[in-house]
Amino acid sequence: MDVYEAVRSRRAVRGFTDRHVPREVLERVLSAAAWAPSGSNLQPWHAYALTGGPLAELKKLAGERVAAGDPWDEREYEMYPPTLKSPYRERRTAFAEQRYGALGISREDGEARQRAASANWDCFGAPAALFCYIDRDMGPPQWADVGMYLQTVMLLLRAEGLHSCTQMAWSVYRTTVAEVLSPPDGLILYCGMSIGYEDGTVGYARTGRAPLDETVTFVQG
Ligand SMILES: Cc1cc2nc3c(=O)[nH]c(=O)nc-3n(C[C@H](O)[C@H](O)[C@H](O)COP(=O)(O)O)c2cc1C
Repeated sequence: MDVYEAVRSRRAVRGFTDRHVPREVLERVLSAAAWAPSGSNLQPWHAYALTGGPLAELKKLAGERVAAGDPWDEREYEMYPPTLKSPYRERRTAFAEQRYGALGISREDGEARQRAASANWDCFGAPAALFCYIDRDMGPPQWADVGMYLQTVMLLLRAEGLHSCTQMAWSVYRTTVAEVLSPPDGLILYCGMSIGYEDGTVGYARTGRAPLDETVTFVQG
């Protein structure tokens, strides 16, 4: 698979089969992803790869919290600015319309939207997941490094025929994730990532992108 194809075919997949993801494949992907760039080569990512019993345990514990209507954990970082200005606000609204519209859920049906969103904490059925932490001392440039690492992981997964969905949603149940992973105190959970083979029966809408001239300015001589 060439890089363009990997980039184009990567999308947030939210329905996976239970087909096993072999450990060798995850090791191959994560070994290659370690070559992702980072400022001064800090490599500020701390990833945990989960499959089998430990992942099943995490899904069970998280599912219990969802079912109990347990409040979310205190935030360690804000997912989005408290008020999203234009054009981000419109892009977010359009995304939600597409995401839930593909499942036949209307804008007004908040309960159905929440039910669909709760599949996050079952990793959308995926049999493997990655949890990515960053040191509490790190600043925005290092968070950006972690983003580059995660994208590298996602593209390499495509080369292996696998799909993924990055999930900040896991940060709201970070204490439950910590119960299973026991990370060192100094780390913040940035996100989870569901990994597996796509379940082609789950409906989805391909997200769009802003036209190039909205996000890129060419300055030519
Ligand atoms: C850092 C990050 C966190 C995300 N968190 C979630 C999440 O919690 N749940 C989810 O369903 N999708 C999540 N997504 C997926 C985005 O919604 C998705 O990437 C975006 O809408 C663009 O669609 P595409 O990836 O399918 O092209 C996340 C993506 C990123 C990069």
